[in-house]
Amino acid sequence: MRSAVVLGGKTGLLGQALSLALTRQGWAVHAPGRDELNLFERPAVEDYLARTKAEVLFNTVAYTKVDQAEDEPAEASRLNRQLPLILGKAVQAAGVPMVHYSTDFVFSGKKTSPYGPGDQTAPCSVYGQTKLQGERELMSLGLPNLLIIRTSWLFGPCKTNFVTRILELAASRPELSVVHDQIGSPSYTPDLAAGSLALLATGATGIFHLANAGQASWCELATEAVRGADLACRIKPIPSSEYPQKACRPAYSVLDLGAFTAATGIAPRPWLQALREFLFSREDCLS
Ligand SMILES: NC(=O)c1ccc[n+]([C@@H]2O[C@H](COP(=O)([O-])OP(=O)(O)OC[C@H]3O[C@@H](n4cnc5c(N)ncnc54)[C@H](OP(=O)(O)O)[C@@H]3O)[C@@H](O)[C@H]2O)c1
Repeated sequence: MRSAVVLGGKTGLLGQALSLALTRQGWAVHAPGRDELNLFERPAVEDYLARTKAEVLFNTVAYTKVDQAEDEPAEASRLNRQLPLILGKAVQAAGVPMVHYSTDFVFSGKKTSPYGPGDQTAPCSVYGQTKLQGERELMSLGLPNLLIIRTSWLFGPCKTNFVTRILELAASRPELSVVHDQIGSPSYTPDLAAGSLALLATGATGIFHLANAGQASWCELATEAVRGADLACRIKPIPSSEYPQKACRPAYSVLDLGAFTAATGIAPRPWLQALREFLFSREDCLS
């Protein structure tokens, strides 16, 4: 049985979907929690990779609280920049391939057509800046088997996310105001997990973009979620200026999936189709 280590696999939104996808494909999955492995101790990570006979390391651990990162830049940097470097050195020593995740927030959002992996980065938030630094630290190591997958706007089972939060609020309120002027690529975590494994299987290396196909505003995503769940809540479109947030967010961060499709032969399905599957079938969680 092939063995994979999934950091964040026990409690993370994406980590849990990845653990489930790997398990279903017959992999032995090792997902150490905070209490089991100190990720910042490189020898401990190397020892863990050896003990589990890992054939790949997935890193889904990150500082993902975008607004809070503005107040905690050092902690964001520790998790998003320093940790990938430590893990990169550990996989280098162990000779293990690594799959690392990054974000659409590395872009400024000033483009009006989808962002490809080679497009210029210019993050406008601490979260985006530290995630970009993490990418760069990893790339600087020259690892032979490194995959960096930039993704965006995650929704899925097993952990609170934008879609589950909207459904929760919509169940008890007649109206919700949601911003209409931020456009991105919603990503269903089981699809992202399956796509990641397909990409890994091709032996591809470098930076790829992976999300569901199509684009949406937060308002459109909320509207479709509420409609799909048959809730009687009106979604009111508002501009970002009426919903001030601490961190700056790109106004447009749709991802170009062409490189992923060229490498795997897979065209990701539209986000709306994935959303409907999420609402109607409710994917399992491992725990
Ligand atoms: N969510 C999105 O919309 C989105 C969009 C674009 C890109 N991404 C990227 O996708 C990846 C996965 O994101 P996600 O939303 O699945 O993340 P998440 O749900 O916030 O999970 C983060 C994981 O990191 C773990 N973690 C945090 N601090 C830790 C520490 N000091 N030591 C050990 N573990 C720690 C958490 O464990 P605990 O439960 O113990 O805290 C959790 O398992 C990240 O690289 C993120 O930047 C996410």
